[in-house]
Amino acid sequence: MGRRTAKHLLFAVFFFCLMGVSESFGAKNFGTSPDEKTALKGAQYVGSESCGACHEAEVKAFQLSTHQRVSLPQEGLEVQGCEMCHGPASLHVETSGGKNNILNPKRDMAACFQCHAEKQMEFRLPYHHPVMEGKMNCTSCHNPHGQDVRPWSATTMQGVNEACFNCHKEHRGPFVFEHEAVREGCTTCHQVHGSLHPKMLVARDNNLCLRCHTQINFPTIGKSSHSGRLPSGTCFSAGCHTAVHGSNFDDHLRY
Ligand code: HEC
Ligand code: HEC
Ligand code: HEC
Ligand code: HEC
Ligand code: HEC
Ligand code: HEC
Ligand code: HEC
Repeated sequence: MGRRTAKHLLFAVFFFCLMGVSESFGAKNFGTSPDEKTALKGAQYVGSESCGACHEAEVKAFQLSTHQRVSLPQEGLEVQGCEMCHGPASLHVETSGGKNNILNPKRDMAACFQCHAEKQMEFRLPYHHPVMEGKMNCTSCHNPHGQDVRPWSATTMQGVNEACFNCHKEHRGPFVFEHEAVREGCTTCHQVHGSLHPKMLVARDNNLCLRCHTQINFPTIGKSSHSGRLPSGTCFSAGCHTAVHGSNFDDHLRY
């Protein structure tokens, strides 16, 4: 397509790097389809100005978003605005829109991994959300165009829990006996991209619970001595405090 100026060539190189990343995942069910790759060949970056005519909602939302704030206007178009995630959009714009002529990170998360490479490693840890498997994606929990790409703030973790309840409804409660730890957010105990520990826990044994429950007179925890209990297993797996998220029956969260 069009003249091959040095600039265009540069963009093409960037773009093929991007494609290279997506290819190396080797996951057929979430990568860009071969059709899409062919269709995108030769596309160029055009800037975000033209998008508004047809995608008013996204453009409006994006103005205050995290990634708009981290756009680098002095750098190339590939790290600015819409195209930092959607790739070069010239074909899409020239043909007045449509599918399969523009990247959608919903199908191809290589766009995100370009800049967040370490996240790719997290989703490859032994226990992880099935993102690389194509069963969910970054936008299951993150809001790509919204004011905060993390739809919760630093001061309240409530929004994190809401994001989780979309899929893990059974943990919503309300429970007669709540575990205060859950109020501090699911991420106090879970590493939600991925973890070395089963159930994506931040620690796999008593240490998880003892972060908050160590007491001066350990091994007395609460009002009872745990000296005979701790060796028989972890607080939650030894058949004791199995209702770690809250209980309707027992104030010691035992069932
Ligand atoms: C002339 C109108 C028009 C312009 C300009 C336009 N688009 Fe689109 N876009 C469309 C239409 C129509 C669709 C298809 C919507 C559908 O079928 O759901 C679309 C779809 C998309 C999709 C989803 C594609 C998919 O396969 O899932 C993305 C992402 C997108 N546009 C981004 C952009 C960006 C970024 C720009 C600016 C660089 C842009 N569009 C400019 C009309 C336009
Ligand atoms: C941080 C990366 C990122 C940026 C920057 C970005 N988007 Fe998106 N966009 C996404 C993701 C991820 C999706 C898929 C959302 C989903 O899961 O449905 C998406 C989806 C879309 C869609 C398809 C919506 C649909 O319902 O199918 C359009 C249109 C779109 N974006 C337009 C834009 C426009 C216009 C801009 C710039 C103003 C922009 N995007 C900037 C990541 C981004
Ligand atoms: C062109 C580079 C670039 C792309 C592409 C990109 N990001 Fe980002 N993103 C950044 C930068 C820079 C920051 C701010 C610094 C940081 O926290 O890493 C950021 C911040 C974030 C944050 C919030 C961090 C915080 O502390 O609030 C999330 C979540 C995020 N990005 C997710 C995504 C997702 C999901 C995609 C793909 C849809 C994506 N990013 C694509 C560069 C990018
Ligand atoms: C199951 C929900 C979920 C999915 C799926 C998810 N994230 Fe996150 N992400 C989170 C949560 C929760 C945090 C905040 C972690 C914290 O504060 O401890 C976060 C934080 C981040 C951050 C900020 C830096 C950090 O580690 O605190 C970035 C960047 C990010 N995610 C990128 C991504 C990308 C890219 C994808 C897709 C490949 C993705 N996330 C998929 C839930 C998710
Ligand atoms: C889009 C749906 C979705 C969202 C949102 C989501 N999850 Fe998940 N979660 C899943 C799926 C799917 C699995 C994998 C289930 C399996 O492998 O059987 C999973 C697995 C888990 C597991 C491990 C379960 C096990 O038995 O090993 C934990 C813990 C978990 N999620 C916590 C969270 C937390 C915390 C959040 C919010 C930050 C969250 N999830 C958001 C869909 C979701
Ligand atoms: C106090 C620490 C803690 C907090 C906070 C916490 N979890 Fe858990 N979660 C655990 C432990 C421990 C397990 C493993 C239980 C087991 O193996 O019996 C677990 C297991 C899970 C599982 C897989 C097994 C199941 O019960 O379905 C999911 C899903 C889950 N948690 C989601 C969440 C969500 C969503 C939140 C936030 C509302 C949350 N967790 C908050 C400690 C916690
Ligand atoms: C982030 C801090 C935190 C973590 C981590 C945490 N808890 Fe708690 N837990 C609390 C707070 C706060 C209370 C309510 C005050 C109290 O009773 O100490 C509580 C109460 C409890 C109670 C009810 C009180 C009682 O006397 O029986 C049990 C049982 C309990 N936690 C078990 C656990 C288990 C098991 C784990 C590990 C999976 C765990 N907690 C992890 C903060 C935490």
